[in-house]
Amino acid sequence: MNINKNYLNLKDSYLFSKIAQKVSEYKTQNPSKEIIRLGIGDVTLPLAPVVVRAMSAAAQEMGRAETFRGYGEEQGYSFLRQALCGYYKNKNVLLEETEIFVSDGAKSDLGNILDIFDADNTVLIPDPVYPAYVDTNIMCGRKIIYAAGGVENNFLPLPDKNIKADIIYLCSPNNPTGAVYDKASLKLWVDYALQNAAVILFDGAYEAFIRDKDLPTSIYQIEGAKKCAIEFCSLSKTAGFTGTRCGYTIVPHELLAGDVPLNKFYLRRQTTKFNGVSYIVQRGAEAVFSPEGLAQNKENINYYMANAQIIAAALGAADIWFTGGKNSPYIWFKCPGKLSSWDFFDKLLGEAGVVGTPGVGFGAQGEGFFRLTAFGNRENIIKATEKLRALLLKF
Ligand code: MLT
Repeated sequence: MNINKNYLNLKDSYLFSKIAQKVSEYKTQNPSKEIIRLGIGDVTLPLAPVVVRAMSAAAQEMGRAETFRGYGEEQGYSFLRQALCGYYKNKNVLLEETEIFVSDGAKSDLGNILDIFDADNTVLIPDPVYPAYVDTNIMCGRKIIYAAGGVENNFLPLPDKNIKADIIYLCSPNNPTGAVYDKASLKLWVDYALQNAAVILFDGAYEAFIRDKDLPTSIYQIEGAKKCAIEFCSLSKTAGFTGTRCGYTIVPHELLAGDVPLNKFYLRRQTTKFNGVSYIVQRGAEAVFSPEGLAQNKENINYYMANAQIIAAALGAADIWFTGGKNSPYIWFKCPGKLSSWDFFDKLLGEAGVVGTPGVGFGAQGEGFFRLTAFGNRENIIKATEKLRALLLKF
């Protein structure tokens, strides 16, 4: 038996597992201290009432012989894919049902899609970035090159025509920085991909947090993108599905490698390795895209964005450089006093009882930066911000 030795090249643990472990150690040593968690971007508001109603009704259907359902379509039920086509139509993006693959979330899909690409491809990944992009490529031994983000480009790296990449990851609104590409910048990436016969893997998990009407909420709002991009989306943050699990991936029919449609390959992959998302969850997801669902979830998003403003105001008052928080639930800031990311993590946890995410966990370019999520409940956000404010005053 030979193991996949590429796993030996991974860091010992996934970023969020490492944080959870550190917090658990702290809790054991300080059992009476309150901890406020603004680390992993996990939602706190409950599911929208319309979603709960839809899932309850679906559960009842599953309990009656005449409405019971067994295996569904691997790609997702037509009713959900139709609802998604309608959602995209409102973004001026026309999709066919067969271009959509429903799944249990963007994280799984971002790893699963790699099955259809050769291990020889060179992968271009922005730094800092959501760590799953890097780890899933290390697992299959791909060569990774990085596009550096920093204060100078507002953490939104642009393509360099002298660098040749085959697979490009983009995330906008960005996790971890909260920065968002405008249409002109995304067009540069689309043009680069078309010129280099590359594919863009576009993670749009945070699209619903975009408030500025001029910013793109789908890569397909950029001309030419259907010929070079796959889009991944999730209901986790949009509709509070982190524990319910549902997402979707769009592989346009126009996207070809030579004369091979990538959609056909991904369909083959999914029908072989996946048996679909539960009927109950898909009925809940369908309700997310109903007018009532969109309105109820918008309220939740507004709540989180008001949290973001509270954190942003404290950082602004302390004259700390930050980005995000305007069109995204993440706020990314420079650690005070030139502290390293993990030193600030320890200080914030030790002195304020607040958990955040060290920027360096998202890549070398994240060293000296820190991420806070706005997904907490209001009371905790206010408390954590006060504690952060007091800590910053010490620098
Ligand atoms: C994050 O905190 O970056 C996200 O919650 C992680 C995820 O979506 O898997």
